[in-house]
Amino acid sequence: MPALVLLGAQWGDEGKGKATDLLGGSVDYVVRYQGGNNAGHTVVVGDQKYALHLLPSGILSPGCTPVIGNGVVVDPAVLLSELSGLNERGVDTSKLLISGNAHLITPYNITVDKVTERFLGKRKIGTTGRGIGPTYADKINRTGIRVQDLFDESILLQKVEAALDFKNQVLAKLYNHRAVVAEQVVEEMLGYADQIKGYVADTTLILNDAIDEGKVVLFEGGQGTLLDVDHGTYPFVTSSNPTAGGACTGAGVGPTKINRVIGILKAYTTRVGAGPFPTELFDEDGEALRTIGGERGVTTGRDRRCGWFDAVIARYATRVNGLTDFFLTKLDVLTGWEQIPVCVAYEIDGKRVEELPHNQSDFHHAKPVYEMLPGWSEDITKAKSFAELPKNAQAYVKALEDMSGAPISAIGVGPGRDETIQINSFLD
Ligand code: GDP
Ligand code: IMO
Ligand code: MG
Repeated sequence: MPALVLLGAQWGDEGKGKATDLLGGSVDYVVRYQGGNNAGHTVVVGDQKYALHLLPSGILSPGCTPVIGNGVVVDPAVLLSELSGLNERGVDTSKLLISGNAHLITPYNITVDKVTERFLGKRKIGTTGRGIGPTYADKINRTGIRVQDLFDESILLQKVEAALDFKNQVLAKLYNHRAVVAEQVVEEMLGYADQIKGYVADTTLILNDAIDEGKVVLFEGGQGTLLDVDHGTYPFVTSSNPTAGGACTGAGVGPTKINRVIGILKAYTTRVGAGPFPTELFDEDGEALRTIGGERGVTTGRDRRCGWFDAVIARYATRVNGLTDFFLTKLDVLTGWEQIPVCVAYEIDGKRVEELPHNQSDFHHAKPVYEMLPGWSEDITKAKSFAELPKNAQAYVKALEDMSGAPISAIGVGPGRDETIQINSFLD
């Protein structure tokens, strides 16, 4: 089983970090293929808790080579501080590989992210303010700065000047912001160059060779399917493709090389930032999910919006990603509810709709149609097999599997590495 993609099936924060870390011991490479330090991936190993933003979660497994692919946007200051933070905790980060084609988040991209959001006022996206969207915009506009540009001072200056020509006009005239000085940006970026140079490699070549040799390569998505710029709830999305196809473009690996696509699926639903969310709860159940589930953003510290499980979204994730498996996380959080509502369809303008509406306005009006499933009260955090789960928890998982269109191959019953029930191996 050489190549697997592991991605978020909802709006992010499904538990991808834990799932990736769990597999880390059995894989040779873990590759981030999109996004940047907008991600916040929590990994709990024994009594140690790690919050990773830019680095692949496989970095915590000693045998695994972590890779930042060409599709990622890299804030060099964040990269270096995350590396030194891990080094201080005794984690060896020396195997890291970074694509020279990955784009750099510059200080002016962060400025543009923040002023744009301010300008949008109540129509804002609720971005993480890390410069993600403006950096991808520069990439598509062909005015981006790439990791490899750090190693050629005159090219770097030319590219930064070209990017700022236009941007400074906008900053000054539209946003009433002072102009950014190209030389200062270049000086700051060059300050990172020597520390980054040793990690830079032709990651596409290395990964394709690895797959051809039968090594196991895991592509770790950031964010989630509904935050995908093409397939998500546009414009309330991130600016990259977390969906499975993004692994191909964001790492330079063809679709024929990918054998398995695992969707990480929370047993309920959460979302950070603005945008439609049909099963969102504004009552004490929502508050209970937030409290019991610890639903607070790892990156921005914002409370996550919480709601019941939405099978329409899960089916959609199966479709647009070609999912082969689900990893259902946080089942333990639902312990204690007498009955658990699950959204099986939407009602839109009086009509029952089974699939995610293609039209944005329809999705904004979608009302969840709930089916009630019986709950359980037994502690499930120590369960090691499906059979050890209470009957109603088993029935909940089976019902979700039937509605969602792909087998549930693992179940998370707690944040720790070992708090997982494996039903089918991901590596067969
Ligand atoms: P990611 O962005 O998809 O990696 O997810 P986050 O790390 O942002 O959020 C998931 C949270 O749930 C983290 O605090 C994890 O430690 C935690 N978590 C993951 N799986 C489980 C699980 O099965 N049960 C519980 N209770 N917590 C989990
Ligand atoms: P992980 O990998 C949840 C959301 C932001 C905002 C929108 C756009 O931890 O699942 P951006 O800064 O990317 O331009 O913000 O996307 N967002 C996330 N929500 N989990 C994430 O990552 C997210 N990364 C971005 O809240 O609504
Ligand atoms: Mg997260």
